Amino acid sequence: MLALLRSFEDLRVELLAEDEDGVHGYVALSRAWLDARERLVDVLVLSPLGVRPERQGTGIGTALLAAAVEAAAEDGAPLVFLEGSPDFYAARGWDAASEHGLDRPSVRIPDQACRVVLLPAHEPWMTGRLVYPDVWWRRDLVGLRDPDLAAVEAAVDPG
Ligand SMILES: CC(C)(COP(=O)(O)OP(=O)(O)OC[C@H]1O[C@@H](n2cnc3c(N)ncnc32)[C@H](O)[C@@H]1OP(=O)(O)O)[C@@H](O)C(=O)NCCC(=O)NCCS
Repeated sequence: MLALLRSFEDLRVELLAEDEDGVHGYVALSRAWLDARERLVDVLVLSPLGVRPERQGTGIGTALLAAAVEAAAEDGAPLVFLEGSPDFYAARGWDAASEHGLDRPSVRIPDQACRVVLLPAHEPWMTGRLVYPDVWWRRDLVGLRDPDLAAVEAAVDPG
């Protein structure tokens, strides 16, 4: 998947958490769009974020997330979105996209699992649908499918 993103020149930022023992975590930002009423707006999608199992729970994921948001702001992006655990990301300043007039790229992403951070370049008119580039659809990597979708919906969007 990362190779495909690179080949389409969609990959914008890659960050590693590493020390003398090696690489312990990784995060990437790639290109996406916001289909606003006025025009298409270049935005970023954060994926993947991963930390080696033996280092999980030591703050690496949180640090990578903060560094990625900083890099996105420096890149001039108005917002970053992602799909992920509502609890983990809400605790780190990521809002539900729907709170800001932003529609999920697919209804197969539970509402509370589509999270967003608005950056200084964001303007109030920037609302509408978040759109993944073709590469995500080619690999069928958007959202979840049943039975996983139903199980996650029951957990994060009860009722
Ligand atoms: C989720 C993940 C990136 C967090 O990184 P981390 O370095 O372990 O996280 P930190 O040490 O900075 O923070 C610990 C928090 O992560 C939470 N966490 C750990 N694994 C998690 C998981 N699989 N899903 C959701 N949250 C998780 C812990 O409960 C803790 O939450 P709290 O601080 O709100 O109580 C990491 O555990 C991971 O790589 N998991 C497997 C891959 C994955 O799920 N990637 C994210 C896709 S959304």
